[in-house]
Amino acid sequence: MQVTPLQQIESGLFSGYKIWMKRDDLLHPIVSGNKYRKLKYALPKEHSKEISTVVSMGGPWSNHLHALAYACRESSLSSIGLVRGLRKDSDPLTACLQDCVENGMQLHFVSREDYRLLREIPDYWRKFISNDSPQVKWLAEGGKSIEAMRGVTEVVEEIQLQLGQAADVIICPCGSGTTMAGIVLGMKGKGRAIGVAAVQNAGFLSSTILEMVYQGGTGSRDNFEILTEFDHGGFAKTSPELLDFCDHFTAETQIPIEPVYTGKMLYAVAELCSRKYFNNMHNIVLLHTGGLQGIRGFSSQP
Ligand SMILES: Cc1ncc(COP(=O)(O)O)c(C=O)c1O
Repeated sequence: MQVTPLQQIESGLFSGYKIWMKRDDLLHPIVSGNKYRKLKYALPKEHSKEISTVVSMGGPWSNHLHALAYACRESSLSSIGLVRGLRKDSDPLTACLQDCVENGMQLHFVSREDYRLLREIPDYWRKFISNDSPQVKWLAEGGKSIEAMRGVTEVVEEIQLQLGQAADVIICPCGSGTTMAGIVLGMKGKGRAIGVAAVQNAGFLSSTILEMVYQGGTGSRDNFEILTEFDHGGFAKTSPELLDFCDHFTAETQIPIEPVYTGKMLYAVAELCSRKYFNNMHNIVLLHTGGLQGIRGFSSQP
């Protein structure tokens, strides 16, 4: 796995602060950002005798399913995606799901109610899978798992080596909270971590992250916080201010971003800079979590 650049950001949007961006969007052309790190240990090893198929869930523009389909094909594994929302045969597939199919993923469309139950009941996915053999592995929404969290811890070690010291603060966008949990675990109590919730009603995230970090074996960690005021109306929702902000950022820095995750994080960081939130913090590191394939959804979101 290559080491991604830690790039200093020159932008008036964050004036007065030294901001670094860990460019995990450059980690892999398809399995980019946190997906690569989350799948690194969660996927069975190539030619594993025990597992032949991986099943997971996601929306019609899921970065996770998109990355999973490709990664499974590369590891000679079959993949099945349980996709949110029933679909008529005549409805076109999103570009994201077309890529999944091209990479060999079998898709099953499930009702919103079933999707909710998939989130809540651990074995509910079996209802949709005819192959009941033990060789099937389930990955929860967003790839959330302890192995996924462990994969993310490695980004903290890389950042520390690149900076020559621990970062004062590492900031990332949050969906399931797995990436943030990996950062908190990897920081080993040095510095602070801030997660920007990309979803609405994200009050659950702090306890989810605490629980995952605890399961990671370090005991409790309280050097993190979750900001819930920057969701711009909810998951995959945007506002004109957010879209303008993303355009402005990319025009200034030439760094591509998407508005669902990294765009919301950067918007929050700019706001925190204007509130002088980072005073006395010298190395502020933002994690670019990739997911650029999702931009295609903004002209044709079903
Ligand atoms: C591009 C991108 N960034 C951030 C996240 C949030 O990651 P997590 O679910 O680990 O909180 C996701 C979702 O997995 C994502 O696709």
